[in-house]
Amino acid sequence: MVLSTGTNKIKTAVFISGTGSNLKSLIKFSKLKKSPISINLIITNNKLAKGLKYGAIFKIKNKIINFKNKEIAEKKIFNELKKNKIELICLAGFMKILSKNFIKNFKGKILNIHPSLLPKYKGLNTHKKAIENKDKYSGCTVHFVNAKLDSGKIILQKRVNIYKKDTPDSLAERILAQEHKLFPKAILKIFSL
Ligand code: GRF
Repeated sequence: MVLSTGTNKIKTAVFISGTGSNLKSLIKFSKLKKSPISINLIITNNKLAKGLKYGAIFKIKNKIINFKNKEIAEKKIFNELKKNKIELICLAGFMKILSKNFIKNFKGKILNIHPSLLPKYKGLNTHKKAIENKDKYSGCTVHFVNAKLDSGKIILQKRVNIYKKDTPDSLAERILAQEHKLFPKAILKIFSL
């Protein structure tokens, strides 16, 4: 593995709410020479988010933001992003919906990973919906974030088969493994255009 210093890379903030396995894969990716991004900031609405631990291992700065008042929360985030000269935002299991105004300020600079083949199954419980609908496959999507939930321009998708014995959990596990590859691939795609 070739490690890079990350000095000339696109300064990126990752927003998480929970486990942070996508954050982990993005951190790993960011350390590769071929990666156009460095991860300089982690934002979370959940002080118990496990993902904060991965960030700490790599000494990545984090900011825990209380979302009781969304307007105040977003102002704080905005200031942090500016202070850290952040140029790209990756939403990786971030369970809060950002306001139109916030998104406007970072137009074309926010990416999200979603556990379905959009436009199918926007929002929550995607795996349960796919199984209940007896779909033969589902998957994951990396897309740009716009003002409409899970509706921005699609960058990349990966299809994952659904088997008869699948439960939402078993399907989630297989899709998550693909998410870990898809997010870095999508970043490579948009920055090599
Ligand atoms: C992922 O399935 C992501 O697509 C969804 O939430 C999950 C987060 O997982 N939005 P993790 O926190 O990255 O492990």
